[in-house]
Amino acid sequence: MKRVFSGVQPSGHLTLGNYLGAVRRWAAVEQHQADALFCVVDLHALTVEHDPARLRRLTRQTATLLLASGLAPDVCTLFVQSHVDEHARLSYLLECVATDGEMRRMIQYKEKARRQQERGAGVRLSLLTYPVLMAADVLAYATDEVPVGEDQKQHVELARTLAERFNQRYGHTFVVPKVTLPRVGARVMNLQEPGSKMGKSDVSGQGVVRLLDEPEVVRQKVMRAVTDSGPGGRQVEYDRAERPGVANLLDILAACTGEEPVTLAGKYTGYGQLKKDVAEAVVEALRPVRERHAELCADPAYVDGVLRAGAERARAMARPVVDTAYRAIGLLPAA
Ligand code: TYM
Repeated sequence: MKRVFSGVQPSGHLTLGNYLGAVRRWAAVEQHQADALFCVVDLHALTVEHDPARLRRLTRQTATLLLASGLAPDVCTLFVQSHVDEHARLSYLLECVATDGEMRRMIQYKEKARRQQERGAGVRLSLLTYPVLMAADVLAYATDEVPVGEDQKQHVELARTLAERFNQRYGHTFVVPKVTLPRVGARVMNLQEPGSKMGKSDVSGQGVVRLLDEPEVVRQKVMRAVTDSGPGGRQVEYDRAERPGVANLLDILAACTGEEPVTLAGKYTGYGQLKKDVAEAVVEALRPVRERHAELCADPAYVDGVLRAGAERARAMARPVVDTAYRAIGLLPAA
C-alpha cells in the first residue's frame, strides 16, 4: 500500500483554501486509499513571530478541525509534529545536504522574509531552513505521495532533490516522494485580492473564508467578493488572467460541486446569481465540519487521546528510517 504524508501549520484559523486545496481530499480519498499520515506542523509555525499561548490553542484547534473534516483516527494517523523527535533529528542531517542557495531561491521564503522585514521584524533563521524541515517530515516516513495545494509544490520538489542527493552520496536511504495536486481547488484566491492566495495569516479577514465562519459571515464575504469589469462587461467568463475574481468564484463553485469551471461559467448571465450560488455551496460544504467541530470541542480528552496514539504510531514508523540515515551519513551509533 502506498504511503501518503501531508501537513498543515497551526499558524492561524484554517481557511476554505486549506479545505478545498488539501484537507477535503485527505478525508475523502487519501486516507482510504493509502497508509496515510497527517501532521499538525507546530515547529513550522515557529518560523515567524508567534505567541506561545495562541500556538498551543491553534495546534489543538487545527487537530480538532482535521477530525471534524472527516479524518478518521482508525483509518489514518493524525499527530503533532513536535511530539515526534525524529522530524528535528532528520532535519539537521538534511541541512547537511542542502545548500544556502537552494533555500534562498524558495518563493515562499522570499515572500515571507519580505513581509517580516516590512513589519520591522527580524527574519528568523528557521524561516530559511523551513523547507528542509518539511523535507524531513516527508522523508522520515518513506512517503510515496504528498497531497498539497499548488503553493507547496516547490517545497515537495526540494524534498525530492534532497532525497536523491542523499541516496546518491550515502547509499539508498529515502523513498523519493511525488507531489499530487487536486484537479480543482489547488489555488483558492483571496476574495478581496484575487491576485493573492487565500491564506491563514491574512489579518483583515474579509477576503478569507474560515472553516468556522458562521453561514451569515460566509455569505457576506462571498457577496462582497471583488469581481472584475473590463472588456466584455459583466459577462461571466472563465479567464484566470483577465478576470481573476470571477475565475476564483467559478473555481470555488467547481470544487464544491464537482463540475467544470468553464461549464459553470456558461450557466450564468450575471455576477449576482453566481455569487449567491457560490455562497450557498460553500455554506453547505462547511456545515458538517462546523457541526462536528462543535461536538468534538465538548470532548478535548478524545482529541488528546487521538494525538497521543497518533504520535506513538508515527514515532514507530519514523525511527527506523531516521536511524538508517544517521548510520548512512557516518555518525557512530551510541554503544
Ligand atoms: P499550509 O498550512 O499553508 O497549508 C496546508 C495545506 O493547504 C494548502 N493550501 C491551499 N490550497 C489551495 N488554495 C489555497 N489558498 C491554499 N492555502 C493553503 C497547502 O498547499 C497545504 O497543502 N508547508 C506546509 C505544511 C507542511 C507540509 C509538510 C505539507 C509542513 N510539512 C509536509 C506537506 C508535507 C504549509 O505551510 O501548509
